[in-house]
Amino acid sequence: MLKRFSISLEEELLDIFDEQIKANSYNNRSEAIRDLIRKAFVKEEWELDKPVMGVISLVYDHHQHKLQEKVTIVQHDYHQHIISTTHVHMDHDNCLEVIVVKGKAREVRDLAAMLTALKGVRDGNLAMSSTGKALR
Ligand code: NI
Repeated sequence: MLKRFSISLEEELLDIFDEQIKANSYNNRSEAIRDLIRKAFVKEEWELDKPVMGVISLVYDHHQHKLQEKVTIVQHDYHQHIISTTHVHMDHDNCLEVIVVKGKAREVRDLAAMLTALKGVRDGNLAMSSTGKALR
């Protein structure tokens, strides 16, 4: 059920907010505020080491000595945290690996850090998302 409430805020802040929600393609303030609240919940899940989900992306040159093997070994060490791995051969040299992960926030962060720190990984990212349980 939707409930209505009103918010008071400074005109300048509201102007900035309206500009931002327009730039981010929101149709109205309500949906933008709902998403801000959900984002705060997701951030808290990560900070409190709750069960989370995320996506790790890695860009690397597969010619780098033993790198492919190391990427595989780390993922096997964390097999319980890994839902799926997609490998894309982007061009002659570069690979993109997209790894969907779940688990306690700390462990997922450790896994992402370990993969990103491997020598030859040119870009590593962790998109921090949620299991969705705390979000409605
Ligand atoms: Ni490849």
